[in-house]
Amino acid sequence: MIPEEQKKALDSWQLSARYWDKYRALIAKIFAPLTSGLVDEARIKVGQRILDIGGGTGEPALTISRIVGPTGSVMYTDPVAGMVETTQAEAARRGLANIHFTQCSADELPFADRTFDAAVGRLSAMFFVDPVKAVREALRVIAENGIASFVVWGPKEANPFFSAVTDVIDRFLEVPPQDPDAPETFRFAGPGKLVGVLENAGAKNVIEHRLKFQIEAPISFEQFWQLRTEMSGTLREKMAGIVPAQLPGVKQAVADAARRYFVSGTMSFPAQALIVSARKSAASILLDDFAHFQHKHE
Ligand SMILES: C[S@@+](CC[C@H](N)C(=O)[O-])C[C@H]1O[C@@H](n2cnc3c(N)ncnc32)[C@H](O)[C@@H]1O
Repeated sequence: MIPEEQKKALDSWQLSARYWDKYRALIAKIFAPLTSGLVDEARIKVGQRILDIGGGTGEPALTISRIVGPTGSVMYTDPVAGMVETTQAEAARRGLANIHFTQCSADELPFADRTFDAAVGRLSAMFFVDPVKAVREALRVIAENGIASFVVWGPKEANPFFSAVTDVIDRFLEVPPQDPDAPETFRFAGPGKLVGVLENAGAKNVIEHRLKFQIEAPISFEQFWQLRTEMSGTLREKMAGIVPAQLPGVKQAVADAARRYFVSGTMSFPAQALIVSARKSAASILLDDFAHFQHKHE
């Protein structure tokens, strides 16, 4: 990405920060299975030191802070000031004393080698400027036996929470052809793509798991529409490109496409994510992995 595009992307996240804060509780609820998946894959336990990369409004950092407890710690990072500030305020509200904050990009982590037991990123890897460099950085700052785990969205067609809106809106706009490597929501949706990034960065024992879950909450289509059009920088930009007279028609077309996901006052979208995890060094692939595998398949 050229620096100007980089700046534009960060400005858009800065604008998103206030909406992500507004919907904090809802986001925590609907994407909770992604946090659980990361905690499980990165084997996060009491007393560990964990790095969260691209923490946004605080997940998984806030959940992990409870899991590692007072003998452990979490370092939350995000390059966007608005995200850092709102999450810092939330941590203070919750009285969490073992979580620390650093405003930085994944590509340049201002931490010494081997500072953390594990590094995780929830829905952030697709926005890294240089993903291989970022993963190399994550591996550098974790212990020799450390684990790095990232969760990203699976295919767009399997994620109507996004496509039910964007597919309809794109019919009303001239959408230029997409660069498959541009930093956007589905950049790593193809199976094996993020695995390749971790392998290129020198990670060992790289494993990809598909996580199927429901994005569920007791909200109406109206609330969903508001949430989606406020939270997403891409959607905000697209909506700005639609002539005002067309807006009611666009919204109705999205409502028709999304109708089957709203039943009896509840939103329920099927969703698919990919969790890609790896070890820093092959030497660390120990009994621990065997025990974890056994536990998962009992
Ligand atoms: C979709 S949000 C996910 C936030 C949070 N982890 C969650 O799951 O709710 C993506 C986050 O990636 C951050 N981000 C963007 N560029 C980044 C970069 N170069 N390095 C690290 N994080 C980045 C954004 O600021 C944003 O907070």
